[in-house]
Amino acid sequence: MPPGLPQQLIALVLLGVIVWQGLTNHKRTDDLIFGQHKLMALTQELRGKQFVIESQNETLAAQVDARTSELRESNMRLATANLELLELDKLRSAVLSNVSHELRTPLTGIFGSAQNLRDGLAGGLTTAQQEYVGMIEKDSGRLIRVVNELLEWGRLQAGHIELDRAAVPLQPMLAEVAVLLRPVADRKGVQLSMPDGESTVHVQADADKLKQILINLVDNAVKFSPPQSRVDVRIETNRQAVKILVEDQGVGVSLEDRPHLFERFYRGHGAEAAAGSGLGLAIAKNLARLHGGDIALQSGAARGSVFVLSLPMEAEA
Ligand SMILES: Nc1ncnc2c1ncn2[C@@H]1O[C@H](COP(=O)(O)OP(=O)(O)O)[C@@H](O)[C@H]1O
Ligand SMILES: [Mg+2]
Repeated sequence: MPPGLPQQLIALVLLGVIVWQGLTNHKRTDDLIFGQHKLMALTQELRGKQFVIESQNETLAAQVDARTSELRESNMRLATANLELLELDKLRSAVLSNVSHELRTPLTGIFGSAQNLRDGLAGGLTTAQQEYVGMIEKDSGRLIRVVNELLEWGRLQAGHIELDRAAVPLQPMLAEVAVLLRPVADRKGVQLSMPDGESTVHVQADADKLKQILINLVDNAVKFSPPQSRVDVRIETNRQAVKILVEDQGVGVSLEDRPHLFERFYRGHGAEAAAGSGLGLAIAKNLARLHGGDIALQSGAARGSVFVLSLPMEAEA
C-alpha cells in the first residue's frame, strides 16, 4: 500500500460523511419549509373560515333582531284588535238588547190587539177579516218568540242569568208544557204523550228556565214531526242523573247536521220550511249546562230523533 493512502481514505470517508450529512440536512430543511408553507396555508384558510362565521353571525343577529321587532309589532296589533273586538262585542250586546226591547213592546201591542179583534171586542168579524187577524196574530207571535230568544241569548252571552233554584217536581212541570204545546200537536195530528202522573221525581232547578228548555225540546219534536205520528216524553233516573227523553218519529237529524245542531242560528237541512231562528237548542243547551246538566242528541234511532236532557240528581237532604 503506498504511504499516505490511509489518510487519503480517511479524508475521503470524512468527505463522504460530510456530503451525506449536508444532503440529509438539506432534505430536512426542505421538509421544514414545506411544513411551514402548509401551516401558513391552513392558518389562512382558518382565518377565512372565521371571517365567514363572523359575518354569518352578524347576519343571524340582524335577522333575529328584525324578527323580534316584527313579533313585537304583531303582538301590539293583536292586543289592539282584541280591545276593538271587546268594544265591538259590548256594542253588539247593547244594540241587540236595545233593539229587542224596542221591538218587543210594539209587537206585544200588535199581538194583543189582534187577539182582542179575534175575540170580538171591536164587533163581529167577517170570515175574511178573521183570517187576516189570525195571520197577524200568528206572525206577531212568531216575531215575539224570535225577539225573546235573541234577548235570552244576549243575556246568556253576557253572563247575566242567575238561576233561582228550588226542588221542582218534574211530572207537573211536564204537564204544564203539554198544556202549552198540545194544541199545536193536535193541529198537526201529532200525539203527544207525557209520563204518567205517578212519577215523583224532583230536580233542583230554576223552574222557569227548566220549562223553557222543555218547551224548546218538545216544540222541536212536534215541529219536525209528520202528521199522524207520536212524540213521547219519558223520565229515566239513576243515582247521578235525571234524564228527560223527548222522542219523535220525524225527519231525524242528518250526519252532516249533527255536529252543528247546538250552534247559535244553526238550522238543519230541511228545516227551512218550519218557523224558527235556530237559537232554541243553543239557548236550551246553555241553560242545561248552567244547571250542571246537558242536552244531547241520542244517536241510533232508526227514524226520528231522541233528544236527552240530563240534570244532576238532587242531593238527598
Ligand atoms: N226533533 C228534531 N228533529 C229533527 N231535527 C231537529 C229536531 N230538533 C232540532 N232539529 C234541528 O236542529 C236545528 C236547530 O234547532 P233549534 O235551535 O231549536 O232551531 P229552530 O227550532 O229555530 O230551527 C233545527 O233547525 C233542526 O234542523
Ligand atoms: Mg227550536
